[in-house]
Amino acid sequence: MKVLVTGGAGYIGSHTVKELLKKGHEIIIFDNFSSGRKELVCGGEVIHGDLRSKEEIKAAFENHKIEAVLHFAALIQVGESYTNPQKYYLHNLITSLNLLETMLKFGIKYFIFSSSAAVYGIPQRIPLEEDHPLNPINPYGTTKFMVERILQDYDRAYGLKYVSLRYFNAAGADPDGQIGEMHDPETHLIPSILLHLLGKKDNFQVFGNDFPTPDGTAIRDYIHVTDLARAHVLALERLTAENQSQAINLGSSRGYSVLEVVKAVEKVTGKKVNLKFGPRRQGDVPVLLASSQKAESWLGWQREFSELEEIIETAWKWHQKH
Ligand code: UFG
Repeated sequence: MKVLVTGGAGYIGSHTVKELLKKGHEIIIFDNFSSGRKELVCGGEVIHGDLRSKEEIKAAFENHKIEAVLHFAALIQVGESYTNPQKYYLHNLITSLNLLETMLKFGIKYFIFSSSAAVYGIPQRIPLEEDHPLNPINPYGTTKFMVERILQDYDRAYGLKYVSLRYFNAAGADPDGQIGEMHDPETHLIPSILLHLLGKKDNFQVFGNDFPTPDGTAIRDYIHVTDLARAHVLALERLTAENQSQAINLGSSRGYSVLEVVKAVEKVTGKKVNLKFGPRRQGDVPVLLASSQKAESWLGWQREFSELEEIIETAWKWHQKH
């Protein structure tokens, strides 16, 4: 298929482009390179465009016979979304509306949306199943929730078919070493520890050791970015075959505490992490864990990188080189 990938020069977007190309899809990357990186473009045609401009989106659709859209482009910092919500509603919500409006004008009806575990808010039950109530607790999660709701209405009213993929904690890097994580600033756990070990980040802090978990640190569900990328390819194939909209968790169903991640990093790298304990980060929940049953049954998704050490190994290789 000919697919438009917004944010295709970003972390998860670039890994997905790589998997789509392997399957023979034709790719048009639409990215404003605010956080996307030229080094992460691994093929396809690149349009330097901004989703805040309906004109720029329209031009992309006029010039290419696009059949489906994968929408990754978004801001991702939960903390920043508290202090500057307007920026998040503009960049994550309005941009999505602009994109959907243009898709509808051009009669394109397949949409894969990068959603987040943040749509659930504080879990009432663990593992989280897709029918768990959605109650986001930060503006970032709210923007993802709002787009999911809009998609439901657009399906009902306009026949737009979508898959909302709710990512848990994406980590790791392309096993070939071609692409990897390059956030600036880097706030995610695994790359933060690795960058600290490489002397590229001043200090590493564990945010909170008073959570109601066995070792007091927060538990998350880490998923290799290549497994995540492959789930997008499956989602596109299933969506076009079944013509049925869905929301699907992408996680591993296994949780690791921050201290367990630190231990795994020490094992992989052979280095000692000099950690400090700090206060909880605003909006962090004690445990986030996905049920992946629906991803396995509906997408036929099987993870290749099921061990945390494998995720860390690929990230470590990448960060040592870059
Ligand atoms: N953490 C630390 N020290 C750090 C960085 C993180 O202790 O330097 C902790 C966090 O407090 C959290 C865990 O490590 O408990 C994981 O943190 P990340 O920042 O790597 O990931 P989050 O779980 O906070 O965020 C992820 C996605 C977000 C998404 C969120 C909720 O990156 O986009 O899950 O679903 F919104």
